[in-house]
Amino acid sequence: MSKHPTTIIAIDGGAATGKSSTSCAIAKSLEFLHVDTGAHYRTVTFALNQAGIPPKDLDAVTEGLATLNLGTSVKGQQAFLSVNGYKPNDSEIRSTSVNSLVAHFAAIPSVRKFLFEYQREQVKVAQKKGFKGLVMEGRDIGSVIFPDAQFRFYLHADAETRSLRRKKQGQEDAIKQRDAIDTGRKDAPLKCPEGAIVIDTSENTLEQVIATLLQIIRNQD
Ligand code: DC
Repeated sequence: MSKHPTTIIAIDGGAATGKSSTSCAIAKSLEFLHVDTGAHYRTVTFALNQAGIPPKDLDAVTEGLATLNLGTSVKGQQAFLSVNGYKPNDSEIRSTSVNSLVAHFAAIPSVRKFLFEYQREQVKVAQKKGFKGLVMEGRDIGSVIFPDAQFRFYLHADAETRSLRRKKQGQEDAIKQRDAIDTGRKDAPLKCPEGAIVIDTSENTLEQVIATLLQIIRNQD
């Protein structure tokens, strides 16, 4: 497969593997746009939940999605998804209820299809706003959204380290349950993309992980 003309860095991994902090730092260092696709699934979950739609009612989910208009705003290095002109804040998309619902909504094929084009289009946002490239993090970026990315990383950490990280952040998050749903779903499951570079973040500090990724990127670019 020929590589994408714009430099894209795909960073996948389970919850609390250090994806967000790493992606953010890499984007800053390289002057790339940072897109967190977990936040996309959280924003859609927030909107559907607010409309009273449960993930088990697939017809209502499809109807609900048809009422959502997606928009993008860029602040600093980061792009944010808005729905019908509203960008929910962090406490809204990282609430306990969104934490418990998001993996269920993300397992629904119509929800994934709904976000697919939007996520691919983020390259154009990066170009239009003058960024040198795109760092996109998620679960299926290197496997489904951008299998043609120049760099595909898969971050891994053991379960104990990840639980501890979430506790330190003061967040209540059923990581094990979410990961089980994310890896077990049929559509775009969480997995290490073939040919991706695996980085174990359990034993390394955030600074070490960032330095490792930057070294790989700079050496190959
Ligand atoms: O990265 P996060 O923990 O904020 O992601 C929230 C949920 O969204 C996660 O349980 C799985 C889902 N997700 C996904 O299915 N595909 C992505 N590319 C990103 C996130």
